[in-house]
Amino acid sequence: MQRYANISKYQQIIQYHPFCVQNVDHFLRKNSLIACQNHKITQENFYTMAYGLLKGKRGIISGALNEDSIAWKIAQRAHEEGATFTLTNAPLAMRMGEINKLAEETGAKIIGADATSIEELENLYDESLEFLGGPVDFVLHSIGMSTNIRKGREYSDLNYEWFLKSLDVSALSFHKMMQVAQKKDAIAQGGSVVALSYIAAQRSFPDYTDMAQAKAMLESIARSYGYHYGKAKGVRVNTVSQSPTKTTAGTGISGFNAFYEYANQMSPLGNATADDCADYVITLFSDLTKKVTMQNLFHDGGFSCVGISEEIVEKMEQGIK
Ligand code: NAI
Repeated sequence: MQRYANISKYQQIIQYHPFCVQNVDHFLRKNSLIACQNHKITQENFYTMAYGLLKGKRGIISGALNEDSIAWKIAQRAHEEGATFTLTNAPLAMRMGEINKLAEETGAKIIGADATSIEELENLYDESLEFLGGPVDFVLHSIGMSTNIRKGREYSDLNYEWFLKSLDVSALSFHKMMQVAQKKDAIAQGGSVVALSYIAAQRSFPDYTDMAQAKAMLESIARSYGYHYGKAKGVRVNTVSQSPTKTTAGTGISGFNAFYEYANQMSPLGNATADDCADYVITLFSDLTKKVTMQNLFHDGGFSCVGISEEIVEKMEQGIK
């Protein structure tokens, strides 16, 4: 689809109708045809919010299961910013998911791959490069799964087969995605690889069980592979440590609503949403962050730096009374 920015109309609205600007932003996210009834903002004008940050860039986006998925929002933003990409997920998840809708909306090709299988990852890169017409500039790892969490096993009663599976799916797959790419020379000079993490890698969250170790390993892989891929091809590798987010993976953790609310009240900026996360990840895929690598970047409204907030103090005091 042809994209253009109807800047003057947008500026007019900002000037005279600040309330409508909120509508524009809201409907932009919802991808609705008419963003603002008063101003008849049409689909083309949605791109007033885009900056062309990924114009001409190619990529691979994993982990879009449904509209709530963080990867889904990242795919929509990448499309708005001018990227072309393939979408991938585990074949089983693809059958359950609604990924076809996203592929249609973004012009992407869907390529099934279990991220733990070298063979399927090799095929993912082969087919992606063929479809996109050259090496990719960005890769998103947005994959996490723990059978121990799904089955409600406590940390002191973990099933070790499942533990190993959690590590393979949620962390080792990140290494595999890069090793397969590097062997095939499938990522272009200066490319960017991003995986999504959670603060349980650094701090203890009782119900996050074996995923805490998976995230610690994921972040460690970003540092180690970031060194090697940086030296070899200037490829950046980072993890983004995201606020609790209401997705299928997120809400599967017991007590999720409580720690979502706790994090929200602890963070001076409130929890970062999946849309906020998409905005941030787009900057990491863009040329604006060429020298950022081997980092775990907190994207959490400030949560990771707060000891206690006034809201929580108030709640505790109420509880004590
Ligand atoms: P989601 O459930 O929408 O995404 C997880 C994805 O992993 C799904 O699309 C699933 O099909 C895919 N997956 C599972 N096993 C796979 C395999 N073997 N091969 C390929 N794909 C596989 O949930 P969400 O929240 O969007 O998760 C994305 C990432 O964000 C995960 O790494 C998660 O740990 C991380 N994250 C999520 C937070 C949250 O509160 N939702 C907070 C911080 C990080």
